[in-house]
Amino acid sequence: MIINPRMDYAVLLLAANVTRYAFDYILSVCEKLSCDVFHGLWTIGHGINQSVMKILKDQNYRHYVYAGIRLITLMVMNVLVCACASAQGLKASKIQAGKKISPDLFGLFFEDINYSADGGLYGELVQNRSFEYSPTDRREWHSFSFWQYITPGYSYGSLNIETTAPLHPNNPHYAVLNIEHVGDSGVGLRNQGFAKIPVKAGEKYHFSVFAKLLSQAPISVVVSLQNPEGGTLAESKITVSSSNWQQYTADLLAPVGNDSATLVVLATTRGRLALDVVSLFPDNTFKHRPNGLRADLAQLLADIHPKFIRFPGGCLSHGDGLGNMYRWKNTIGPIEQRVEQKNIWGYHQTAGLGYYEYFQFCEDIGAKPLPILPAAVSCQNSGGTWRIGGTGQKAIDMSDMQDYIQEVLDLVEWANGPATSAWGAKRAAAGHPAPFNLQYVGIGNEDKITPEFEQRFKMIYDAVKAKHPEITVVGTVGPFPEGEDFEKGWKLANALQVPVVDEHYYSQPAWFISNQYRYDAYKRNATKVYIGEYASWGNKMKNALSEAAYMTAIERNGDVVSMASYAPLLAKSGFTQWNPNMIYFDNTSVYPTVNYYVQKLFSVNQGDTYFENVVAKNPADSTLAASCVQDSKTGDIILKLVNAGPEPGSMKINLSAFGKLDADAARTVLSGSAEAANVFGSAAAVVPVTSAFNAAKTFEYNAPPMSLTVIRVRKKK
Ligand code: AHR
Repeated sequence: MIINPRMDYAVLLLAANVTRYAFDYILSVCEKLSCDVFHGLWTIGHGINQSVMKILKDQNYRHYVYAGIRLITLMVMNVLVCACASAQGLKASKIQAGKKISPDLFGLFFEDINYSADGGLYGELVQNRSFEYSPTDRREWHSFSFWQYITPGYSYGSLNIETTAPLHPNNPHYAVLNIEHVGDSGVGLRNQGFAKIPVKAGEKYHFSVFAKLLSQAPISVVVSLQNPEGGTLAESKITVSSSNWQQYTADLLAPVGNDSATLVVLATTRGRLALDVVSLFPDNTFKHRPNGLRADLAQLLADIHPKFIRFPGGCLSHGDGLGNMYRWKNTIGPIEQRVEQKNIWGYHQTAGLGYYEYFQFCEDIGAKPLPILPAAVSCQNSGGTWRIGGTGQKAIDMSDMQDYIQEVLDLVEWANGPATSAWGAKRAAAGHPAPFNLQYVGIGNEDKITPEFEQRFKMIYDAVKAKHPEITVVGTVGPFPEGEDFEKGWKLANALQVPVVDEHYYSQPAWFISNQYRYDAYKRNATKVYIGEYASWGNKMKNALSEAAYMTAIERNGDVVSMASYAPLLAKSGFTQWNPNMIYFDNTSVYPTVNYYVQKLFSVNQGDTYFENVVAKNPADSTLAASCVQDSKTGDIILKLVNAGPEPGSMKINLSAFGKLDADAARTVLSGSAEAANVFGSAAAVVPVTSAFNAAKTFEYNAPPMSLTVIRVRKKK
């Protein structure tokens, strides 16, 4: 064909537009004829058309005239092929029968990092309540950290830490007040809380303390919440009357609130008094549980409707050296008997939020518990050896392995055994006679796959499999999506036929966009994958949408990927060791990131069946991603349409395989510029917006630039 290169721009534009309308018309005919080939061809044709239009807009269009004409010709050819296919009734890309996918796909990863537990989700407001802080936690910390010895009103006395005859051997340190002269107000202690104590107007607080008299006469103690000026917000009184350790309680009601309060405990009688586990909880914990969770943070997690919660980590699970491993038995029972220890992230863990509370929270929000137990080896970065290449992994001595294996088996009995069993009885004594229905147990956290690890993992795995075949064991394949530990971990998992392994990766958004096909190549009937930790490096829309695109691929591969959880979950502002995180908070407010909303939209819209070929898009455009699942309980069909690119993105939806549908669908859109973020301390800039949507059997959806759209369509009854 001979083309005049000087053809006028306007003529060319007109030709392109006419062709486009013709193209659209023929496609609509194809659609009416149920031509399934239409989707593929439309996608290609549409891409070509877009390119032509772009070229025409270019100032140097004349240089591209030849190319443009060729593209238009190609497009017309595509349309003709489509029309032909339609006429012959070809059904080339039929919507296939749905594929069953994991019903537990999206859940939460919880680790006590960034003050997520103590000072975070755990409702306790007193810091260092048991006087167990020490330089092991942090060099400058000691038994009195976050406490002040106070002698207001010309009182006089002394304060010591003692360890003789403690409340419990696991809780060796306690404070002793020697009140020599009570002055105007007494001798005592002030606690600073975790960056102060937030007191809400009109709310009730439960104070408790273990105390014993070290002198003869009863000692009165005034307990108050004070504002920074020393004014009293709430006050109550207890009288310590026993020379044995005994718990005393008082309620504090604050008519006026203050975000920066302190707790003051003043003994107003002469004598000697021992104090331990000085505690203050809001009455309004999540579901009003005693020793409970901070309500607003817990609610934000509940709102995600996670299918599971992984806990207690992360690196916190396998610990900084053998002595620092998270041993579940140390974290159950009365709080004054739990073993406190250094937190691997550079602070202190009280274990007040322990296994019982984790399991209870899971039950409260309908999530399956996924405890991660150490594989009898500590973190390879123990002692800070990550600086010299992570050589710090320590292994439990073989002579102690049977005890350790028993500890793992005991967890299953504690969670699932009858209240009459030895460990089930401890659960019942804590207030939960019914089993917790534990289904998953993780062994190891991204450990270095050494011979020591392999030997111990196999011992634990074999024992759990033999005694509890009903439990699904989740193994581990190192900290990265590839490399030596990944390969060795997978080799071991394949050899042992471990049901699920835990993959971890943190990377730039481009990694998530370009790795959307990672799991398409995985074996379907072999070990499954739990993506236990993943996040794109940042809290901007471009990060969240790269995760969203990746999550559509997780759904597509929901027959191989059985679970996935973004990490880390929580971070307290000013106390953060790791960025990015899903939710930021301070003492009074919570700030969900845009990544949170992506997680939530996927999680509350999970399905159990995946459908191919419902959404057609330009396959060459990797910033467009989509999935279609059905929730068999409701029958709802759920489309997730991601556009992680700067231009609107067209997708063709064909729901004709689903029979009669309710036209009144719901559409939720999360969109914002690539750099948009919900910044800590400011009102959220990007939140999902839901509106009614008229869903036809087939329709074209123009996904806004930088957006995630979820369309939920009901089946007609
Ligand atoms: O999620 C933060 C940390 O990242 C986890 O503790 C660890 O498992 C991973 O390296």
